[in-house]
Amino acid sequence: METVCFGSFCLDPVRGSLLRDGQPILMTPKAFMVLHHLLRHPEKLVTKDELLHAVWPRVCVGDGVVKVCIGEIRRALGDPSQQPRFIETVHCRGYRFIGNITDGAQATVRSGRVWQVHFGNPSPAGNMGLQDCSAAPALGRDKELERLDAYLARAFQGVPQVVLIKGEAGIGKTTLIESFLNRAMATETAFVAQGRCFGHCIDTEAYFSVIEALHSLCRGPKGDRAHELLRQWAPTWAMQLATVVDSQHVPSELNSTARQRMPREFAAYVEALMAEQPLVLVLEDLHWSDYATADLISYLTHLRSSAPFIIIGSYRCYELLQKTHPLKMLLRELKARRACNELSLGGLDGTVAQKFVSSHLPDSPATVKLSRMLHEKTEGNPLYKCWTTGSRKACSMYLTKKGISTNYYTTCG
Ligand SMILES: Nc1ncnc2c1ncn2[C@@H]1O[C@H](COP(=O)(O)OP(=O)(O)OP(=O)(O)O)[C@@H](O)[C@H]1O
Ligand SMILES: [Mg+2]
Repeated sequence: METVCFGSFCLDPVRGSLLRDGQPILMTPKAFMVLHHLLRHPEKLVTKDELLHAVWPRVCVGDGVVKVCIGEIRRALGDPSQQPRFIETVHCRGYRFIGNITDGAQATVRSGRVWQVHFGNPSPAGNMGLQDCSAAPALGRDKELERLDAYLARAFQGVPQVVLIKGEAGIGKTTLIESFLNRAMATETAFVAQGRCFGHCIDTEAYFSVIEALHSLCRGPKGDRAHELLRQWAPTWAMQLATVVDSQHVPSELNSTARQRMPREFAAYVEALMAEQPLVLVLEDLHWSDYATADLISYLTHLRSSAPFIIIGSYRCYELLQKTHPLKMLLRELKARRACNELSLGGLDGTVAQKFVSSHLPDSPATVKLSRMLHEKTEGNPLYKCWTTGSRKACSMYLTKKGISTNYYTTCG
């Protein structure tokens, strides 16, 4: 299927990108596939079963996942369910694409550094309906950035590194990683693969975040080369990746031998990549990791390699309640072998709240009071920024929970 445009949007199934007025829009792979499927059948009723079959072909999931994806698509397109311009709900049955589809020849990516155009971080959006603001610089994280620089330097000297960044929701894990990558990749050349786990993945879809990372890698600079090597060294992964582009060309069953081969294939692929350039693999939100991904990370740390390779993971510690949580087991093992570095993120200091308030409100005793209150009530968690970067409804729920009246905010951005 060629690039399809509708309204000010263009979806390019080969690059896996959705653009609005030429600017990339962050979207999870599954939401992308659902939108892609609807666009292939304009004006037709597409049932939930059909979407489940097309987008989740080999896993057993409820139709709630379809609803979640449709919600994400609507947010991305700014398409309210009550008065839709693009996606209409057919009550109890499914969905219909009702937008005007036009020629997509003019669709181009305006971003200069495509590796930054990844599927983004829906968290806390995944939980709260907020939009991510991952491009914001990480204020007050100089020490953490220095530590990351040091781990990267070691990795690039031939001592592979695993760095796990932990902290509560909204504390700034993604912001730190993005800042670090922006800084590091301004001077270093590396393959950068970024993926993240998704709230529905434990026990269901194997390797979700890794597939997403490969997808971002194959769309980045030297993406064609990365894809070529993937097909050569890791054909089973290449086939998995194809599901993001066109689910019709994938056999309905991956045989079990192929599945067992995947870690070995992945390791061979990583080696092939690193023979050409260092590799930075970012796997975010590992508290939602599936078992296969955790096993793969463990497997990679067992390889005797002196190749330039760093894995950077992030997770929320308080989500690891389940005894047999895949990440919990992985952490135990990595720590016992001293095979990982942990970076724990705490609250930011009061100057961050101050800067936030003064960038939106004129200086006055009231704004000083507001920034102090924001800092104290959130204990330095900068999630209060959601007011200007995300959905106000979700944000006001968060603020109210923290005992902060949104009346203070009404003049902000
Ligand atoms: N160091 C920082 N300086 C300025 N703003 C920050 C900083 N850290 C986080 N923020 C802001 O706080 C919000 C949440 O940050 P972020 O998404 O990075 O958190 P997170 O720890 O990745 O959350 P989650 O666990 O939900 O993935 C964003 O709006 C971000 O811009
Ligand atoms: Mg995050």
